[in-house]
Amino acid sequence: MSFRPAVWSALACALPVAWLHAQEHVHPRKKTSATAAVAASKPPGPAVLVNESRTPRTVEVTITAEPTLLSIVPGVKTTAYAYNGRVPGPTLEAYEGDRVIVHFHNRLPEPTTIHWHGMHLPAKFDGSPFYMVQPGESYDYEFMLEKGTAGTYWYHPHPHPFTGAQVAKGLFAPLIVRAHDDPLPKSITERLIVLSDNRFRADGSIDIADPSTPQGNLDVSNGREGNILFVNGQVMPTITIRSGEVQLWRVINASAARVYRLAIPGQTMLHVGNDGGLFEKPVEVKDIVIANSERVMLLVRGTGAPGSSTVLQTLPYDRYVAQTRPSDWNTPRDLFRLQYAKDAPVTPVAIPAVLRPIPAIDTALATRTRVFVMQGGFINGRLHDMNRVDETAKLGDVEIWQIENLVGMDHPFHLHGFQFQVIDRDGVPEPFTSWKDTINLPKHSTARFIVRLNDFPGLWMYHCHILDHEDHGMMGVLELK
Ligand code: C2O
Ligand code: CU
Ligand code: CU
Repeated sequence: MSFRPAVWSALACALPVAWLHAQEHVHPRKKTSATAAVAASKPPGPAVLVNESRTPRTVEVTITAEPTLLSIVPGVKTTAYAYNGRVPGPTLEAYEGDRVIVHFHNRLPEPTTIHWHGMHLPAKFDGSPFYMVQPGESYDYEFMLEKGTAGTYWYHPHPHPFTGAQVAKGLFAPLIVRAHDDPLPKSITERLIVLSDNRFRADGSIDIADPSTPQGNLDVSNGREGNILFVNGQVMPTITIRSGEVQLWRVINASAARVYRLAIPGQTMLHVGNDGGLFEKPVEVKDIVIANSERVMLLVRGTGAPGSSTVLQTLPYDRYVAQTRPSDWNTPRDLFRLQYAKDAPVTPVAIPAVLRPIPAIDTALATRTRVFVMQGGFINGRLHDMNRVDETAKLGDVEIWQIENLVGMDHPFHLHGFQFQVIDRDGVPEPFTSWKDTINLPKHSTARFIVRLNDFPGLWMYHCHILDHEDHGMMGVLELK
């Protein structure tokens, strides 16, 4: 059986398998002399981390975080923080069942960690602020990719309270887990779309405002937004498609605070996956909201004529309190050009009607409901404290978490280590089951999710994923034992 909405026209042909990565940087980096602390601008490493292991089912990679002189905006050089010389950093790719070993070197002048956002792994390898890596030190992360975890994730630093600053300086990168039995046709072209935004001073330096200034104040309250929007580290790049072709877009919102509402004018997309991977069934959408740290998987069909072009836009989305809403919030922004090849159209591939089973966790199994109230920059009335455990749970328990946002701005709530299933939002049952690690709580709203706290005792973070809010203390600690 095939899922082929009426609007998905039928032509004929098979596409070559092409796992293209759209994150190739357009501008080659030139050699420049730099201060001793900044790595001389060397050509960036590969866009995908090279597996150094010969052992089957093992992906062993090396990641170095280092100040690096890069050409991020035209005409000026920026001292960024980069993973292996790149912004975004290189993609970590592996399969379900693989053991991942990461040799991490911190060559930054400050402590950091690598947090594997969305991964289910032992607490000491989560890269939470409890496991800091000091300047000049190294740390080996090691985890297994369990069956059923195929999806789009990402990695970024998590040093409290400097996550926002380190991500702003360039530390964020994709992580893709693939399934050996992926239900999507192999002929589908894949594109990785990493969304970020940033702000620069005239000399090219990254503009991180002092919190005591009006701009700094605004950044703390709204979350820091940049005026320049990047897709895979480029401004308004071109992504190619062929008429009739179906592409899988893996989208990651790596922005500190900007929420995107993605749309291609005049056409629909198939929403096929969330944070933790594919759905049971595709869902046709006109646009899709992707909050901070969320990922979506979309199937996009090339309905345009050969040689034509269109754009991926982000449409207005009002996540703000009225007093601090940016004046241009209501203006759609173009993210990239979608350029059709001149070649004759191909036949769209058939998309399976059922992608993979997502058994819903039975709410009757829940041993308790835990309530989290987000208000005034606090969670449950408290600011984050590394020396305090806020919640204690029993290993193996299934719990319902009820997240309440009492204020007039959105807060995306994220839990480390465990994928959950949304039960309802403002009492409206979630229309279908999916795996999530972040749920956006729109202004004055409540949502519930169910989570199985299986394996991995230890300390786990939960927080608002607007990085300025997290750094300011909208974070808590769950001890699992
Ligand atoms: Cu993506 Cu605690 O973070
Ligand atoms: Cu996380
Ligand atoms: Cu928040």
